[in-house]
Amino acid sequence: MLPWSNYLRQSLYNRLLVILLMTIYQDLTGETGGVQAWTYNYSVNQNLDWDSARQWCRQDYTDMVAIQNQEEIVYLNTMLPKNSQYYWIGLRKVNEMWTWTGTNKTLTKEAENWAVGEPNNIGDGQDCVEIYIKRGKDEAKWNDERCTKKKGALCYTASCSEHCCSAHAECLENIGNYTCQCDPGFKGPRCQEAVECDTVSDPEQGSVNCDHPHGLFAFNSSCQFHCARGYQLQGASQLFCQATGFWDHPAAQCQVKQCPALDSGPHRGTMNCSNPIALHSYNSTCEFNCDLGFDLIGPDRIHCDHTGQWTGNVSTCTVVRCGPLSPPAMGNMSCVDPLGASSFTSSCGFSCEEGYLLRGDTNLTCLSTGQWTNHTPACE
Ligand SMILES: *[C@@H]1O[C@H](CO)[C@@H](O)[C@H](O)[C@H]1NC(C)=O
Ligand SMILES: *[C@@H]1O[C@H](CO)[C@@H](O)[C@H](O)[C@H]1NC(C)=O
Ligand SMILES: *[C@@H]1O[C@H](CO)[C@@H](O)[C@H](O)[C@H]1NC(C)=O
Ligand SMILES: *[C@@H]1O[C@H](CO)[C@@H](O)[C@H](O)[C@H]1NC(C)=O
Ligand SMILES: *[C@@H]1O[C@H](CO)[C@@H](O)[C@H](O)[C@H]1NC(C)=O
Ligand SMILES: *[C@@H]1O[C@H](CO)[C@@H](O)[C@H](O)[C@H]1NC(C)=O
Ligand SMILES: *[C@@H]1O[C@H](CO)[C@@H](O)[C@H](O)[C@H]1NC(C)=O
Ligand SMILES: *[C@@H]1O[C@H](CO)[C@@H](O)[C@H](O)[C@H]1NC(C)=O
Ligand SMILES: *[C@@H]1O[C@H](CO)[C@@H](O)[C@H](O)[C@H]1NC(C)=O
Repeated sequence: MLPWSNYLRQSLYNRLLVILLMTIYQDLTGETGGVQAWTYNYSVNQNLDWDSARQWCRQDYTDMVAIQNQEEIVYLNTMLPKNSQYYWIGLRKVNEMWTWTGTNKTLTKEAENWAVGEPNNIGDGQDCVEIYIKRGKDEAKWNDERCTKKKGALCYTASCSEHCCSAHAECLENIGNYTCQCDPGFKGPRCQEAVECDTVSDPEQGSVNCDHPHGLFAFNSSCQFHCARGYQLQGASQLFCQATGFWDHPAAQCQVKQCPALDSGPHRGTMNCSNPIALHSYNSTCEFNCDLGFDLIGPDRIHCDHTGQWTGNVSTCTVVRCGPLSPPAMGNMSCVDPLGASSFTSSCGFSCEEGYLLRGDTNLTCLSTGQWTNHTPACE
């Protein structure tokens, strides 16, 4: 089937959309009109049976008239010359159903235009339909008739043809012409242009790659977002330009990756973070320092990497320890350990038994360097 036959069918289906300009072929009466959009021709001074009339129509025109709407009926009644036998239309009984022969569609109740008391099937075999043009009574109404009767052939020519509209349209018959009814996502007289969405540009710290099947940022264009190292996408990663001219999602943004928050530095120490982008996010670095007399356990700095993870845990500070002391022979030792046994700030006092003399410091203190202020004294 040729593609444009679909347009023709469409035109017949769309009863309401189609208002044909009816201009009557008047060549034989000597009046040639200047208008080019002729869409109706009829047989003049020649009456034919229904089948011959249809054949006559299909030879030079699209088909026998299929009544589309009330305006068309009124127009035909106004413009056609009276023919005492009236005119055939493209409606006939097929398998007991009144059927539009051009489209093979059954006559619907709303489209009926029978004269009073019709169809009456008088005498049987009244399987074709005539239209009472200029009858005086029941004007332009329909009547069932035997198909072998001879009446005027009433034909139409469709305006739509293969090249009227682009591939993105439906061609609809219109007043004396056609219009291209665009498929969703297309516009323009021939529906050749795709509807455009807003331009999409690279997000900060990212990029966007688009595919444009019908033109830049137009219908069915799709865009894929990517973020730079250390950043993550916020929003839909892919956008589609819809038929409405709007993207299906707002443009995505790239957000710096966050590392878990570090609430405090080590106990007995400090944490000093540099946040070139945002607090505790990609490329942030935290340095740890311990108070005097404490040693760092763990890395002295950690870094928030591109995956949003710290390169290590927050380090801890442990107190500096001096070696354990023992009391001297014949002596006594008593220690105060504020931060732990033999640790920074611990101090030990020494005494000797009766009769012994202390040689050395009576009191040793553990320094931040991990050393006692002096050697253990002796009792002599
Ligand atoms: C149908 O009518 C048009 C308009 O008058 C005319 O140009 C055309 O020749 C007619 N077609 C035929 C086959 O007579
Ligand atoms: C028309 O429709 C009828 C029934 O719906 C079917 O039997 C017939 O084959 C069709 N004819 C054509 C030419 O499509
Ligand atoms: C028919 O319609 C098309 C598209 O709208 C237009 O380009 C053309 O000029 C029209 N033709 C006539 C005869 O009006
Ligand atoms: C538009 O995209 C949809 C979904 O990908 C597809 O089904 C449709 O055929 C496309 N339409 C056109 C005109 O490209
Ligand atoms: C933190 O570190 C920066 C540079 O590494 C330095 O300039 C700043 O003085 C430090 N701040 C503290 C409180 O140690
Ligand atoms: C993150 O740090 C790396 C290494 O110092 C540097 O090359 C990069 O430019 C930084 N990224 C941002 C977004 O600041
Ligand atoms: C950080 O500490 C957790 C437990 O507290 C441990 O499972 C993990 O391995 C540590 N990470 C590093 C990098 O040391
Ligand atoms: C050491 O001192 C404690 C109390 O200060 C005392 O009880 C103990 O007897 C002393 N030991 C020696 C050997 O002097
Ligand atoms: C050791 O000396 C320090 C200061 O000189 C003092 O504070 C501390 O109490 C002394 N310790 C003992 C055990 O006497």
